[in-house]
Amino acid sequence: MSDLAPFVKIIHEGGIVAFPTETVYGLGADAWDPEAIQRIFETKGRPSDNPLIVHLSNVKEAEDFVEVIPEVAKLLMKHFWPGPLTFVLPKKREVLDSVTAGLSTVALRIPSHPKALEFIKQTGPLVGPSANRSGKPSPTKAEHVKEDFGDDFPIIDGGSTKVGLESTVIGFQDDHIIIMRPGKIGADELKSVTGLKIIEEYTNNDDTPKSPGQKYSHYKPQAHVVYKGISTFNDHTMYLMQSASHVYQDNVICYNGDLKQLSKELYDRFRQADHLGYKHIHIEPFDDLRSRYPAYYEALMNRIQKTLG
Ligand code: TXA
Ligand code: MG
Repeated sequence: MSDLAPFVKIIHEGGIVAFPTETVYGLGADAWDPEAIQRIFETKGRPSDNPLIVHLSNVKEAEDFVEVIPEVAKLLMKHFWPGPLTFVLPKKREVLDSVTAGLSTVALRIPSHPKALEFIKQTGPLVGPSANRSGKPSPTKAEHVKEDFGDDFPIIDGGSTKVGLESTVIGFQDDHIIIMRPGKIGADELKSVTGLKIIEEYTNNDDTPKSPGQKYSHYKPQAHVVYKGISTFNDHTMYLMQSASHVYQDNVICYNGDLKQLSKELYDRFRQADHLGYKHIHIEPFDDLRSRYPAYYEALMNRIQKTLG
């Protein structure tokens, strides 16, 4: 019997299980079970107008959810699946309204974490919102899930997630690709695979964004987040720095310009800052790294902007 068997059983009985992906932990429930999906919204405290991503273990399963998969989507799936890219496509009539929040589209992705793939292979397609209470940062460690849902909550522990920020969400319009939520896979990569024009539509001050999730303020740490140059240091601030620092204190963390590492750790640092009672989280600007890490830059700025002020 595989060590996943008890978790698979929970899903088959209509329950919910937290599972690791390469981006953040997800909260899994059978994508065809309306009561289990209801339980997901209740457990997270999630607004019912925010649709869920269906997680698959192979491309063939997409056909049960989507009427026709456009050729360009097939090309991108071949290239980036399994991986942190979510496709929003016209849904089949049978797809539950609670999954799509009544929209005519459904979001799909195949995660690349081996435990996620093995789990979904055994359960069948799962809805998988990030496994946090609404209003908390997405979990990047099993212990974050426990913080939000308690020690007894069923969690498949897959260690720290690699990417740390949620998947890129894309849709298609005319001959364009629309990025609705920026993530590790950025505009440049999507363009070089397809040759199509890429439109970025995820501004934070839009009341009716293409992707409903973008309108929720998400997480604001108790600490006040600032994004500006650092001149002096104090003990009640957590510093997330790009430049090397000569200040060796626990509250001064240096990324030395590694935006990949900052993406991986950002949500964990937010949670830590609140546990440790810091009054401020001071992020040293990294605009000069934009051309070196365009996708991580966009994704990080999108998440950080939601916490400022
Ligand atoms: O990396 C991820 O995507 C993680 C892991 C667990 O896979 N999942 C995740 O799910 O971030 P969630 O529910 O926290 O965010 C899903 C996002 C929301 O912003 C939602 O509005 C958007 O996807 N979304 C889902 N279905 C959509 C649809 N049909 N049209 C537009 N946006 C959609
Ligand atoms: Mg989420």
